[in-house]
Amino acid sequence: MHIIVRENAQEICEVAAALVRAQLLRKPNCVLGLPTGSTPLPLYAELARLAAAGQADFSQVTTFNLDEYVGLPREHEQSYHNFMWTNLFSKIGVRPEQVNLPSGIATDTAAECARYEAAIDAAGGVDLQVLGIGHNGHIGFNEPAEAFSEQTCMVELTPSTIQANRRFFETEADVPRRALTMGIRTIFRAKEILLIAYGAAKADIIRQTVCGPIQPGVPSSVLQLHSNVHLLLDREAAAALSL
Ligand code: PGA
Repeated sequence: MHIIVRENAQEICEVAAALVRAQLLRKPNCVLGLPTGSTPLPLYAELARLAAAGQADFSQVTTFNLDEYVGLPREHEQSYHNFMWTNLFSKIGVRPEQVNLPSGIATDTAAECARYEAAIDAAGGVDLQVLGIGHNGHIGFNEPAEAFSEQTCMVELTPSTIQANRRFFETEADVPRRALTMGIRTIFRAKEILLIAYGAAKADIIRQTVCGPIQPGVPSSVLQLHSNVHLLLDREAAAALSL
């Protein structure tokens, strides 16, 4: 793993944006894998700034998001469709046909997962996958489990994830209990991966991700086996690593 440590979230996200920009320059029609959550917000602001300044051209990219809540239509304020259009897509000039997210309201979820996986394959696979990380080591919504998941699938969110997402909803009962997510194998097949984490609350899971046993109980630990991972950390998130 290639570990980069900076002072704070802003500096980390500037490095992440530079790596995304390098990918765009190398391959203007690249396939980007994108996350939601608080973590990528400074990155998305920086990408919007670069696009507005004419320094990043997203006109030929295809994007695939990691996941979507089951039960939320795309217009829902807390859907990941809405999150992405609000925080990134509307600011970098992409067209709807360039972006992909699983549908949270598909009646046949198995068919929707298969469709999503096939769409990623048809696009040639993900060139650069950006990831956040949950406190329990989830990547996408792949929660700790008995085995690493494979393809895009439906998952039950753990109580700790429901609690972590509670802040975005009026009541805990409103937090969706299930999501569709790229599988661990889907994520692992990306040619390059940027995992971003900042804040003291992520220090322990970053230590487990980098130095702990590779096990499905810590889904992010699988990244130790990937040959092209950049771990972008602020000092607090890196605090439990002996660098
Ligand atoms: P966060 O979530 O960016 O809001 O910390 C990350 C995640 O759960 O994957």
